[in-house]
Parts: sequence; structure tokens; C-alpha cells
Amino acid sequence: MKISPSILAADFSCLYQEISRIEREVDSLHFDIMDGHFVPNITFGPGLVASLRKKVNLLFDIHLMVDNPQEWINPFIDAGADLITVHVETSLHLERLIAIIKEKGPKVGVALNPATSLQGLEYIISEVDVVLAMTVNPGFGSQSLLSSVVPKIRDLREIIRKRKLSLEIEVDGGINQDTAARVIEAGASILVAGTAVFNASDPEKAILRLKNSQKGELGGNKNSTAKNGS
Ligand code: DX5
Ligand code: ZN
Repeated sequence: MKISPSILAADFSCLYQEISRIEREVDSLHFDIMDGHFVPNITFGPGLVASLRKKVNLLFDIHLMVDNPQEWINPFIDAGADLITVHVETSLHLERLIAIIKEKGPKVGVALNPATSLQGLEYIISEVDVVLAMTVNPGFGSQSLLSSVVPKIRDLREIIRKRKLSLEIEVDGGINQDTAARVIEAGASILVAGTAVFNASDPEKAILRLKNSQKGELGGNKNSTAKNGS
């Protein structure tokens, strides 16, 4: 199980120290890039990514929650992106956008908001490395997982199985000890977690518990459901 902590939930006043505390335990670092248009929040840009690139030796997982993502491919590649994920809702020419990212080197992902169906992936899913299923409405950390997305994760895994594809399912938003086992059971292989990691009293331990939340081994309370959960 891969964990990609979202620095959105970290203390920006000591960001490098926060990352250093968990670097040993994770595979990648998730950067939530928000422009205040596609989502009602603004976070950080290529400059912050470039400054951390010099010091942090992890896969940089860039989640573009921006209008006009095509304008941001080069700046984030230059800043050190290893994976760039774009929202299907932000591009009229998704196939071309994916091709541009791939020809420049990084891995490529496509993200779906909770209400967005899998249909839009039909003719490009075989071109991507990751499908990011948003398990909250994008824009803010510390939200509760939307249970309505779990069946979508299951359907996505079925498509991948039937078409014999080898891409990863990444989930993002409200992932913690109580929700991790459910999304893993549905097919997630990369867990983005911000609050559950950086707001934990022991972030390293929080990551290890998420990693061990395999099918059936619930990290948290067996009966718990996500706040919006059924
Ligand atoms: C939403 C963001 C969050 C963040 C992680 O736009 O993408 O999902 O990464 O959020 P929490 O704090 O719920 O793990
Ligand atoms: Zn994200």
C-alpha cells in the first residue's frame, strides 16, 4: 500500500521539518495545487515544489486543481514533478494534454471529482499511469470521505481488470484509519492523506497504521463509517 501524504495539512511555517519526520516511511509526496478558480482555495505553486526538490528525495505527486492545466505542465516539470495529475473537468482536449505530459517525461494521472463518472476515461484510460478518485469535493483538507465514491473505485478496478491495464487507483480526501480499509478493499493502491498524517501526534506511526489497513485489518474502529457514510 503506497501512502502519498498531502502537504496541504502540514505546518507551512516548518514544512521541510514536517516532511523530514515522515520521509523514511512514504513513497511520494502529494502537492495540492489550487488556483482559487477550479476550487475555492489557493495553495502554492512551482516555486515551493522547486525549493523542496533540492532537499527531498521522494516521488513528487502534483495534483493540479487549476483552470487551464496546460499552462502549468512545464513550470511544474521544471520544478521537479515526477507525476502530474490533471482533472478531467478542466480540459477540453484531455488526450492532447496527457500526450504533452508523457512526452516531457513525468508519469501522468487523471483525477475525477466525486460526481464525475468514469465514462470520460473510456478512450484515454489506457494512456495514464494513475486515476485519482477524489473522495471529497476538492479544495480543502480535513473533510469526511464521501461514501458515494466507493462504488466508483470498485467499478474502476473492474474496468482495469477487464482491460488488463496496469494503472494505479489513487484516492484523495478523508483517508484515515477509519476509512482506509474500505477504499483499499474497493481497489485503491495509493492513499493520499493529509490530516490523518500531519495532524497526528505521531505522523510516522499514523503512516504505518495506514499502510497496515489492508482488507479486513481495519486500522480504526470496525463499526465506524465515514461521517457522510451509509
Ligand atoms: C482536497 C485535497 C485534500 C488533501 C487531503 O482538494 O486534495 O483531499 O489532499 O485531505 P485530507 O486532509 O482529508 O487527507
Ligand atoms: Zn490532492
